[in-house]
Amino acid sequence: MPGVHGGHHGPVPMPPRRDDADAPFLPGAAAGVLPPAGEHGEPLGEPVLQTERVTFAYQDGTVALRDLSVAIRRGARLAILGANGSGKSTLFLTLNGILKPAQGRVLLGGAPVRYDRAGLNDLRRRVGLVFQDPDTQLFAASVRQDISFGPINLGLSDAEVRARVECAVADTQIEDLTDRPTHLLSYGQKKRVAIAGVLAMDPEVIIADEPTAGLDPEATARLLELLNRLHAMGRTICISTHDLELALAWADHTMVLRRGELAASGPPQDVLRMPEVVRGARLVQPIVLDTFARLVAAGVLAEDAPPPRTAAELVALIVAREPGSRNSGAPEVAAYNGSA
Ligand SMILES: Nc1ncnc2c1ncn2[C@@H]1O[C@H](COP(=O)(O)OP(=O)(O)OP(=O)(O)O)[C@@H](O)[C@H]1O
Ligand SMILES: [Mg+2]
Repeated sequence: MPGVHGGHHGPVPMPPRRDDADAPFLPGAAAGVLPPAGEHGEPLGEPVLQTERVTFAYQDGTVALRDLSVAIRRGARLAILGANGSGKSTLFLTLNGILKPAQGRVLLGGAPVRYDRAGLNDLRRRVGLVFQDPDTQLFAASVRQDISFGPINLGLSDAEVRARVECAVADTQIEDLTDRPTHLLSYGQKKRVAIAGVLAMDPEVIIADEPTAGLDPEATARLLELLNRLHAMGRTICISTHDLELALAWADHTMVLRRGELAASGPPQDVLRMPEVVRGARLVQPIVLDTFARLVAAGVLAEDAPPPRTAAELVALIVAREPGSRNSGAPEVAAYNGSA
């Protein structure tokens, strides 16, 4: 497969099958619909990239996506979760036009993607895909050449190409790698080079398939910072991940895939609270939410307390319990001062 540059750029029931890709839902949620919301609860923008009833089967007959309708909204920080083989990578390849659905459509900015050269060029200029496996993405001899390839293909001037490459290199902190042969890099280094190659294209939507897999914790933290910076600059970002703590802390919106279908969709702190959803996708509930649920069950926190996304938010909830409330003196919490 060509590189992205070379490609030119109680039990909860399963949700009913839906034609409407937009309205997020949680299985079993009363109204069935939760509004998509940004970090501060503001509604997200219109769908920028969507699948509409997409079914995709590989040549050997494996059906990887089944009648799947999902929408990535402008300005989203979306995390796609799901067990191995649930269809995440197939979805990403479909969103980037590398795979063409057997049924259904992919829409970019509301218009169906055209699978001729011009249509695919436009799609790949606007939607940058970071492949799960960096070896699929990297192909040029040196790191600098690899990152330059996309901008050169866009027909930019030499000066502009250089500026784009320098910027992407700085953003991914790979200054010390630029003259090295790509095939000699470590996995995590290749991963960062692959991300730099996509950044250099300056796409409005970035879809990254397990971008933090194989990165050390420091590199993961920096990548999240980078994704947040890109988000603050107006980019729409969609990642897949098996790291639920990351999804909980970082994403505004989460979708869970299960056998090529959408099993749940909504804010991560709501989706990941549902043990049925989490177990069904062969995931493990983030410890922050597990602890939160235990504190609610123990009566330490109120039933309607807002679910936390980080340990710091959980601590803030505990600290902020109303004085005089029946739980405020719960000894198991009050006694904890960090040194016990
Ligand atoms: N080239 C292929 N030919 C046949 N079947 C494939 C091919 N690629 C993927 N599949 C199958 O399609 C289904 C979805 O695979 P996909 O790679 O999209 O899952 P995933 O959610 O990305 O998994 P992972 O978490 O392991 O990356 C799986 O059943 C997989 O075996
Ligand atoms: Mg995958």
